[in-house]
Amino acid sequence: MDKILEGKVGLITGAGSGFGREIAITFAREGANLVLNDIDLESLEETRDIILKSYDCEILLYQMDISDADKVKEMSKEVFKKFDNVFVLVNNAGINGGLYKSLVCPIENYDRVMNVNLKGPWLLVKNLFRKMRLQKFAPVTGKIINIASCAGIEPNPAIGMYSVSKAALIYFTKLWALELAPRITVNSISPGVHITKIYGNDPELAQRFLDMRGVKIPLNRFGTKADVANACLFLASPASDYITGENIVIDGGMTTSINKL
Ligand SMILES: NC(=O)c1ccc[n+]([C@@H]2O[C@H](COP(=O)([O-])OP(=O)(O)OC[C@H]3O[C@@H](n4cnc5c(N)ncnc54)[C@H](O)[C@@H]3O)[C@@H](O)[C@H]2O)c1
Repeated sequence: MDKILEGKVGLITGAGSGFGREIAITFAREGANLVLNDIDLESLEETRDIILKSYDCEILLYQMDISDADKVKEMSKEVFKKFDNVFVLVNNAGINGGLYKSLVCPIENYDRVMNVNLKGPWLLVKNLFRKMRLQKFAPVTGKIINIASCAGIEPNPAIGMYSVSKAALIYFTKLWALELAPRITVNSISPGVHITKIYGNDPELAQRFLDMRGVKIPLNRFGTKADVANACLFLASPASDYITGENIVIDGGMTTSINKL
């Protein structure tokens, strides 16, 4: 059976750990070649080595801060020197920016969270959409997946600026879906609470975070990295070709249950 992403290239930001690494492994398993970005080169090399142990694919590593406009422009040119397409762009890199309510958040934190979580994805799309629109694939020539957050749906005061940055990313998703139709689809995924580096890889810390807000997860477990990577694979596959401008919530029912359990 043909693999879902054979002949296609996936560009994933923040691929040095967490969801980004898992998405990269999942795409490689389905035959994709990869452009992997992270701000941290060592973790990126680790992701590459893990993939090449199991899968035969071509990988371009690109260390950069996604909020650096010159670097993103440079990378967007480099990618097309090595590959003839970027079929899937996954805007995954993100930071929580510290535990601040929005009105006491230091200005530097505001700038950093907005630059990484919002300006970064905007720069990537801005630099890649023209080429993605002209690619050989049909009916969809390219796909964009933004990793947002449940915090972007219902405001979370404990991480106020993060909430705002992710709400705006969900809004960008809808806006770009309209701007880039009919050739490129744009969707977002909003994870709930998944144990990754963002929670110090610590389930107890994640549980304290839930308890602090009196929030429960109806499916009674934290999310896994695979829960998110599998949804990315669906959005990267032809099975989702008629879906654009949507935000898929993957949180075990957490957002639905807020104020109800
Ligand atoms: N883990 C969760 O429960 C959860 C929930 C909702 C949303 N998210 C979102 O999922 C995405 C991935 O998070 P994760 O949980 O895998 O965290 P993570 O910290 O394990 O991974 C994030 C990766 O992004 C990289 N990165 C950070 N700033 C960067 C920059 N400026 N340029 C390039 N790379 C950069 C980091 O080095 C890291 O490898 C983020 O956007 C996060 O906001 C996570």
